[in-house]
Amino acid sequence: MSDFLLKIQKDLLGCVKCELCKFRTSIVFGEGNPQAKLMFIGEAPGKEEDKAGRPFVGNAGKLLTKMIHSMHLKREDVYICNIIKCRPPLNRRPTVVEILACIPVLIKQIDSIKPEVIVTLGACAYQSLFNSIESISKVAGIWKVYQGISVMPTYHPSFLLRCPKFKKYVWRDLKLVMDKLRGDI
Ligand code: URA
Repeated sequence: MSDFLLKIQKDLLGCVKCELCKFRTSIVFGEGNPQAKLMFIGEAPGKEEDKAGRPFVGNAGKLLTKMIHSMHLKREDVYICNIIKCRPPLNRRPTVVEILACIPVLIKQIDSIKPEVIVTLGACAYQSLFNSIESISKVAGIWKVYQGISVMPTYHPSFLLRCPKFKKYVWRDLKLVMDKLRGDI
């Protein structure tokens, strides 16, 4: 891990900036290549992630891993993290207070990794990064820019597990990301 990422992670140890610290087993910082060209941002750790201390290791994570492989990449090639680093009870959506307390960590992670492309997974990730209320169905598949970095908003793998017919849109979006990383667009 880069020194800057390590420092961000170290500074987070014992964090009590929001109520979620009372319920967590682990702080799920994120993992992957500290120099990744591609970064995936999800919502928040779930039960499995809280137990393992790693992002996207449950059923949604298995699907995300398949999505990454379908792009001819490995998990180790990319960087995977979430908007917030601690599990909300019963996997409820993070509150605005929790997001505002935690998002500075994500901003530092982005600053350290400097990916070429970010894929936001689901409404919470997109809306939190852009401080927006646009629905994910409106923005999925449309390039956005965050601090000079191209961002592709798409659907969350948990949603795809419930509504597999949306997988074709995610594949469409991931193909755009592959083209961008190859320099085709
Ligand atoms: N869902 C997320 O948004 N993040 C995880 O790490 C796991 C499930």
